[in-house]
Amino acid sequence: KITAVIMAGGRGERFWPKSRNACPKQFLSLTKDGETMIQKTVKRLRPLVDAEDVYIVTNAAYTDLVLDQLPDIPKENILAEPCARNTAPCIAFAAAVINRKYEDAIMLVLPSDHLIGYEDIYINTLRKAIKAAEKGKRLVTIGITPEYPETGYGYINFGEEKGDVYAVERFVEKPDLPTAKEYLASGRYLWNSGMFVWKISSVMLNLKTFMPDIYEGALRIGQAFGTPEFNETLVKEFTAFRSESVDFGIMEKAKHIYTIPGSFGWDDVGSWLAVERINETDDDNNFIDGDVIAIDSKRTTVCGGKRLIAAVGTRDIIIVDTDDVLLVCSKNNTQDVKKVIAQLKEES
Ligand code: GDD
Ligand code: MG
Repeated sequence: KITAVIMAGGRGERFWPKSRNACPKQFLSLTKDGETMIQKTVKRLRPLVDAEDVYIVTNAAYTDLVLDQLPDIPKENILAEPCARNTAPCIAFAAAVINRKYEDAIMLVLPSDHLIGYEDIYINTLRKAIKAAEKGKRLVTIGITPEYPETGYGYINFGEEKGDVYAVERFVEKPDLPTAKEYLASGRYLWNSGMFVWKISSVMLNLKTFMPDIYEGALRIGQAFGTPEFNETLVKEFTAFRSESVDFGIMEKAKHIYTIPGSFGWDDVGSWLAVERINETDDDNNFIDGDVIAIDSKRTTVCGGKRLIAAVGTRDIIIVDTDDVLLVCSKNNTQDVKKVIAQLKEES
């Protein structure tokens, strides 16, 4: 049985002011087709996984958004976390619940806020990963050929080739810049795409070994699933979990990791800069959406809101308008948008 778990509880501060606590990136549409990131994520899985085998793990605050945006997913497959504890508890929760329904299903663990350019190749790559994951107690990750020393990603040091997969020597989550540069130069590392494929028994075994507290708690949550005590148990167990990502909590420590290099136009849409990359731009490399007059502008991104925006002679600028906030940002500083949020928090 093939099941998919979509992790959709992240807050995504880099798309402020469009993404807010009330509506993070995965629930936004950043493309002109109007589809949100999570809608695209579920849709592209269609050739591989039935809607009834897709699970969405998100914060309780976002359940209504999920119900609204994904009406085809059964309601009981929307797993609502009472608080944010990062991806390891999210995966443990889903694994325990799915284990109640199927015996040792395959679990595709997928982020909800990435874009894929070539969906056929993507599905093919996942098929290979499933085949690899079916053997033994393997953890399979999808690797991406790195293009620059990004410090916001995990790195996969791949070893020997074994059929479609490579054995992984080491998994390093978010190295510092000098280390990332070294990895890039070595040619022996891939970026971790954040997608994982494994049997439930494989991830459970690793949880038991490296995060026994979360393992035990998840088992109790799984046991209570479908009973009247479920909510009470979930709140009690989940709040007691520590916050930990699957990358630090499991992948950096586990053995039997394998990777499949994927080249399917992966984009993790990490900042406002991504908008011009994932959309069509005009002859002057502008991306313009909304009621906008642009005169002699080049390399300008404008995501309009309700009012008219006029951009005159702009270069390398991002303008995002919402009902209550207007962002004007240089393209060199898109990672600093988070600092605005930090300052707002300080002031409030
Ligand atoms: N349910 C739930 N609960 N989902 C969460 C939570 C949570 O507490 N926290 C994050 N998520 C979801 C996010 O919405 C996203 O879809 C996914 O889990 C990954 O979380 P991010 O916060 O975006 O992780 P990251 O980008 O810092 O790093 C991960 O992705 C990189 C590739 O984009 C890691 O796996 C890196 O190794 C990887 O390179
Ligand atoms: Mg991310």
